[in-house]
Amino acid sequence: MKIAVVGGTGDCGQGFVKRWAGEHEIIIGSRRAEKAEVAAAELTSVLKSRGISAKIEGTDNSKAIEASDLVVLSIPYKFVESMTSDLKESYSDQIVISPVVPMTRRDNHFEYTPPAQGSAALLVRDLLPPSIKVVAAFHTISYAAFGDLNQILGGDVLIVGDDPRAKEVVSNLVWIVRDLRPLDGGPLEVAAQVEGLTPLLLNIGRLNKIKNAGICVI
Ligand SMILES: NC(=O)c1ccc[n+]([C@@H]2O[C@H](COP(=O)([O-])OP(=O)(O)OC[C@H]3O[C@@H](n4cnc5c(N)ncnc54)[C@H](OP(=O)(O)O)[C@@H]3O)[C@@H](O)[C@H]2O)c1
Repeated sequence: MKIAVVGGTGDCGQGFVKRWAGEHEIIIGSRRAEKAEVAAAELTSVLKSRGISAKIEGTDNSKAIEASDLVVLSIPYKFVESMTSDLKESYSDQIVISPVVPMTRRDNHFEYTPPAQGSAALLVRDLLPPSIKVVAAFHTISYAAFGDLNQILGGDVLIVGDDPRAKEVVSNLVWIVRDLRPLDGGPLEVAAQVEGLTPLLLNIGRLNKIKNAGICVI
């Protein structure tokens, strides 16, 4: 599969690239192709030093999406609406993963602050053509740990979406990461329930001194 990581130059994006590049072709997308090319070369070298042969290239976001089977929107929430609208023409029939969390810091805690559509994932679905299958996932993974290949993550990745095959594809991407388990959380309509766990986990982590807090359903 060809996976475009839009914002693959960022903190979370690099985690997706590192974790999946041994199994899939990765195209890092950026607003600036040169920045993506540099990130691709760096990550290829990091993986090579660990004996992982990876095919990673870097280009602008538009070309990355056009060439892909699956797109990860690894960009901050505040740019999601403009970026998705601007890049709409680049999409055809991809699966789109949204790990995006709309949240606001207030005093010493984080609050979930979704758009009028109800969640970031529903906003993305509304902006993209109906042929695009949006799946929301990976919100409760600590990306500090995700990007560190020495860390064994553990825990569950909650996946919500309306297309069973798209959810299966995303589940298989979760299984690639050692000790992570995918769990089907229902239709995309309930994405707010999953997105809202991120600020909760951040607050729990800070108040209880838990580093890289995640979710595990028992
Ligand atoms: N951090 C976590 O642990 C965590 C947990 C759960 C979910 N998430 C979600 O993961 C997503 C990515 O988070 P992140 O921490 O990786 O973000 P980030 O590092 O701040 O940004 C990711 C990329 O977004 C692009 N970007 C920056 N400013 C932009 C702008 N003005 N317009 C368009 N693109 C811009 C940049 O790529 P280019 O400059 O290359 O274009 C940047 O590398 C977010 O939606 C976040 O809610 C994060």
